[in-house]
Amino acid sequence: MAKSVGILTAGGDSPGLNAALRAIGRTAQDVYGMHVIGFLDGFRGLMQNRTMRLEGSILSGILTQGGTILGTSRDKPHRMPVGGKELDMTDVMVDTYKLHNLDALVCLGGGGTQKSAHRLMKKGLNIITLPKTIDNDVARTDTTFGFDTALGVATEAIDRLHSTAHSHHRIIVVETMGHNAGWLALGAGIAGGADVVLIPEILYDINVVAEAITRRRSSGKPFSIVAVSEGARSLDDAEEPEDGAAAKRFAEAHIEPDSWQYTPLTHTMRLARQLEDLTGLESRVTILGHLQRGGAPSAYDRLLATRLGSACVELINRDVYGVLVASRGEGSEPVPLEEVAGHRKTIPPEHAWIASARNVGTCLGD
Ligand code: F6P
Repeated sequence: MAKSVGILTAGGDSPGLNAALRAIGRTAQDVYGMHVIGFLDGFRGLMQNRTMRLEGSILSGILTQGGTILGTSRDKPHRMPVGGKELDMTDVMVDTYKLHNLDALVCLGGGGTQKSAHRLMKKGLNIITLPKTIDNDVARTDTTFGFDTALGVATEAIDRLHSTAHSHHRIIVVETMGHNAGWLALGAGIAGGADVVLIPEILYDINVVAEAITRRRSSGKPFSIVAVSEGARSLDDAEEPEDGAAAKRFAEAHIEPDSWQYTPLTHTMRLARQLEDLTGLESRVTILGHLQRGGAPSAYDRLLATRLGSACVELINRDVYGVLVASRGEGSEPVPLEEVAGHRKTIPPEHAWIASARNVGTCLGD
């Protein structure tokens, strides 16, 4: 009998999600004659049984589109906001799975999604996941789709910031996303030739950063680009409880608690201010934010999402469940969800990107 497959996309959207949905849908229907149904807005749609058929013309023209045609949310099965409370709705999701007589549920997502999917797997569902996130921090896969596109956007931003930093003799601090992993900042920093790259994996010393910028100025380069990951922290931050650090920042900025300006001075803004004070060079901040997640996927991400999506259906056809379809070299490999859920792939100290950044003279703040 033809198998029935459910799919959902969860967590932050990521370029390549639609390419993966298309690959799963087409391979499932056209090659194996399976039925495919999509759940809307991540695990919330699974709880509410809100669905969309993923077949025929719905799958046409989406390969190149950013976002996800299924919609997404950050809701988790065991902490679902319902009527002003957070409830464990895992069993309701199990009921929806049974209602549709599903043979498998494919969950496309990053670290949080892998954990939620693992939770559903432990309830007895046939779960299979794909690695999606611009952060590239899913454990046990070479890479994740969305990362290459975001890397391209961040690199182009650094390229563009160079000419304005150069013209004004400024420091430009450019913040990338990445959560608690530095892949985006380091990758774009190397590719864009940033002078300083600060990542969560390496605590930085503000004086080391300022000295590197001052040395550049002394050698006739009165501008610098600092690529900073949103999760980067200084040695001082590491010593201080986060609450204390925030209070200190407000006090330093002379912002009264009842002022309209009472918004957190972000880590990146504080960094720019400190560098301006220490180097005497004017500083500006550019926060790339969701620009990095939007828009069409790169060719690499389209290819990656297509090959992982199609490999996923081949595994379903062989009844291989409870796994992440990991990217391995040019191919893919099923990895048990236990080895993925709750683990994060950060940049190891011995990684080639770190060594090569140092070799070309990039300051990593240590
Ligand atoms: O996980 C992807 C990501 O883009 C992170 O890099 C970032 O910290 C987070 O999502 C932002 O989430 P949101 O879109 O919910 O603000």
